[in-house]
Amino acid sequence: MGLSPKCTGALTPLLFFMKMLLCSALCPCSDPALCKPITETRDFEVFVFHVREKNWLFYDWTQVTTVATFAEYEPDLMCFAHSKGVRYVLAGDVSLKDIVDPKNRTSWITQKVELAMRQFMDGLNLDIEEPVLKGSPQYYALTALVQETTEAFHKEIPGSQVTFDVPWAPNCVAARCYNYTGIADLCDFLFVMSYDMPPQFLTEWVAGANSPYNETLTGYDQFINLGINPKKLVMGIPWYGYDYVCLELTKDNKCILFKESLLESAAQQVGYSTIMKQLNSSLSGRIWDDFQKSPFFNYKDTEGLVHQLWYDDPESISLKAAYVPKRSLRGIGMWQADCLDYSSDPVAKKQTEMMWKALRP
Ligand SMILES: *[C@@H]1O[C@H](CO)[C@@H](O)[C@H](O)[C@H]1NC(C)=O
Ligand SMILES: *[C@@H]1O[C@H](CO)[C@@H](O)[C@H](O)[C@H]1NC(C)=O
Ligand SMILES: *[C@@H]1O[C@H](CO)[C@@H](O)[C@H](O)[C@H]1NC(C)=O
Ligand SMILES: *[C@@H]1O[C@H](CO)[C@@H](O)[C@H](O)[C@H]1NC(C)=O
Repeated sequence: MGLSPKCTGALTPLLFFMKMLLCSALCPCSDPALCKPITETRDFEVFVFHVREKNWLFYDWTQVTTVATFAEYEPDLMCFAHSKGVRYVLAGDVSLKDIVDPKNRTSWITQKVELAMRQFMDGLNLDIEEPVLKGSPQYYALTALVQETTEAFHKEIPGSQVTFDVPWAPNCVAARCYNYTGIADLCDFLFVMSYDMPPQFLTEWVAGANSPYNETLTGYDQFINLGINPKKLVMGIPWYGYDYVCLELTKDNKCILFKESLLESAAQQVGYSTIMKQLNSSLSGRIWDDFQKSPFFNYKDTEGLVHQLWYDDPESISLKAAYVPKRSLRGIGMWQADCLDYSSDPVAKKQTEMMWKALRP
């Protein structure tokens, strides 16, 4: 097998092996230029989590800048994304206890870099979401993981992007005592998960918004107050909601919860397309909560139990999204793009279009 000149050079045996794999991997795109990683930087990020095959062709490609894939690798998606100048990045999830050991960490990172190169991908999104105690071995290993992953990707895939998912606020929210300033400095940017707030937020045993307005913005203020550059923050909004079973529904629409409901399992996650179908047969129709700036509705299930479903729609999303340019954040994104209905049904089509539009109000 002949190697082209740029595939040779003084490399360690391992890197040499990786380059050989890359140079010999066959580009699946009709135009081989499309296998080149994206190197351009964008002023505004629209960071999209992709979890299922099939829908991606119907995303709003006039907006998307990065697709982070939690689905199977799809060569067609890689070629298509590159044709639009869009990055296609791996998801990286590893148990922290397995990467405290530096050798183990290096081997995990090497595997990811090699996989990305073989698949002509443009980086990695680190989705760790593990509780960590300040000053524990995991605390330092996590920061080192971010640093070493970013360095390895940037070196081997010039222009590649390494990002890290953080909860809606720093300060040990969700027991995640991470070195947020260190991590923000050491990677390209943070994806802030401005959702899953209710369980920590309930002061009463009452259902509430997944992504309440005030807490969402307070979270960004706290990251910025730590000294993190707003350009290192991408706002993550939810395209799903939570369905609660009510022990009692009060006259003023408070859904009183069974005490056990505070366990995460008692509130079910529901995607926007399902929510829109349920809204039609709800008891209450859409109600706007002006304090949390989120919509909700009540419905009765087949067993006669009353539920309250809190979600985000174009109105609640636009309000939060308006903060992104106002505070000069890096961009916006969502968990996750496949929560919408991409069928040809005209009502669904309109709803889906409005959700994408709400990202840039
Ligand atoms: C290294 O990682 C593997 C799994 O990835 C794990 O089973 C093993 O215990 C780790 N070893 C050390 C020393 O951390
Ligand atoms: C956080 O990480 C940065 C970069 O590695 C380091 O300089 C700093 O000392 C760390 N801070 C804490 C509190 O661990
Ligand atoms: C907004 O959220 C912050 C942080 O949770 C809280 O301290 C503050 O009281 C809230 N403000 C309002 C008006 O609810
Ligand atoms: C709600 O139901 C009506 C009548 O059954 C239908 O015309 C409409 O398209 C439905 N809306 C949604 C969002 O499904």
